[in-house]
Amino acid sequence: MDKLLVRSNGPLRGRVTVSGAKNAALPIMAACLLTEEPSTIEGVPPVTDVILMAEILRRLGVEVTVAGDRLAIRPERYTGTATPYDLVSRMRASICVLGPLLAKQGKARVSMPGGCVIGPRPIDLHLKGLQALGATCTVEHGDIVASCPRLQGARVHLSGAFGSSVLATANVMMAATLAQGTTVIEHAACEPEVADLADGLLAMGARIEGHGSPVIRIEGVPRLRGLRYRIIPDRVEAGTLMIAAAIAGGDVTIHGARTEHLGAVMDKLSEAGAQIEKLNGALRVRATAPLRAVEVATLPFPGFPTDLQAQMMALMTVCQGVSVVTEKVYPERFMHVAELNRMGASITREGASAIVRGVERLSGAPVTAPDLRASAALILAGMVAENQTEVSGLEHLDRGYADLEGRLAQLGASIRRVSEADRPSDHDARRAEHGAALV
Ligand code: EPZ
Repeated sequence: MDKLLVRSNGPLRGRVTVSGAKNAALPIMAACLLTEEPSTIEGVPPVTDVILMAEILRRLGVEVTVAGDRLAIRPERYTGTATPYDLVSRMRASICVLGPLLAKQGKARVSMPGGCVIGPRPIDLHLKGLQALGATCTVEHGDIVASCPRLQGARVHLSGAFGSSVLATANVMMAATLAQGTTVIEHAACEPEVADLADGLLAMGARIEGHGSPVIRIEGVPRLRGLRYRIIPDRVEAGTLMIAAAIAGGDVTIHGARTEHLGAVMDKLSEAGAQIEKLNGALRVRATAPLRAVEVATLPFPGFPTDLQAQMMALMTVCQGVSVVTEKVYPERFMHVAELNRMGASITREGASAIVRGVERLSGAPVTAPDLRASAALILAGMVAENQTEVSGLEHLDRGYADLEGRLAQLGASIRRVSEADRPSDHDARRAEHGAALV
């Protein structure tokens, strides 16, 4: 098992370029099931969730080849309609093949995604939307079984207890592209990844208006063509790098960071005392640690993203004063609190909020990443902790970040990946530290 060894190494300086967005790539890969023509997607990040989605497409009979950040998808001969539990259970985003399979093949059997460490992740809105288009959806032996010979456009309201749903909007929008007539999705998710999916579908010949707003209108068409598309830069990776510059201090320019996707993050980092400058095609973040405490509530876009809550909390642990984080998208997404507290942070949970009392310094410790974004938070915390922090559980990090440690190291962070075999034993480490006297 790999681990990251992280040490404090002063301010970050330099330039870095953001990879393509994982959460845009996954539904756009699924959208390629809506056509029998070949597609090419560029800017796809080399992360394990993408590899898993490619495997899901292959199991459906689609040929997928990867060359650098480019995916070639050839669905000419695919006839599959079922995705297996062993893959779906490893990646919740696999649910987004449901809409395309139903629209193109008239039926789909997709294993029901389970819960997840970030909290309950129901799929009622996905089913509600597809049922409104005329599909019959049942749950049989742990699988969602959906069928409908030809979907019919309809007006669908997709609001849940915690607001809009990104992947439910994606699923219904994809299904509606091949439905008969007009579909109107109300309370649609406005996330840039949903808008990017709509742009991809438009490039395939779909007729969509209003994407990026809460009301999306889709006129069904009889068929879609193959896609050639470059996906948007990853706003969560960009935000993580912005917070890295804020926590360590320094002067970092992040190329590819889109200011229109990062408004809430720029606002909160500025409030904390960082200087954010918009450049042409880039964002420059300058900071002199420590920053000031802030209050953050996560919300659907354009609010502060839940996918940056853990990283922002890592920053708050060393801000001056008392910060508050309220999680309004996934009220249980606080698995990182215990690990940050093991590093000397002072965080208490109160329902869906966490109260973070800034401390002068964190202390390095062995920690285990409980989920994807928490893994980034622990790395950032390690960058300002005394002594060494060992972050394990890197399978989470690798699901969604393309070489985050390499990018941080490029900016001057002291961070190194080791596999268990390379790792000096405790005995060796003590010898190195104290010399021959210990032998
Ligand atoms: C997407 O998940 C992202 N995943 C998540 O990113 C992200 O955290 C989330 O959107 C919110 O922004 C991908 O894009 C692959 P939701 P999704 O449906 O679409 C509730 C990361 O770290 N809900 O928008 O599955 C749900 O419980 C990941 O990259 C229902 O009630 O999230 C939550 O409270 C993790 N019923 C809220 O809606 C439903 O049918 C928003 O979830 C569906 C969701």
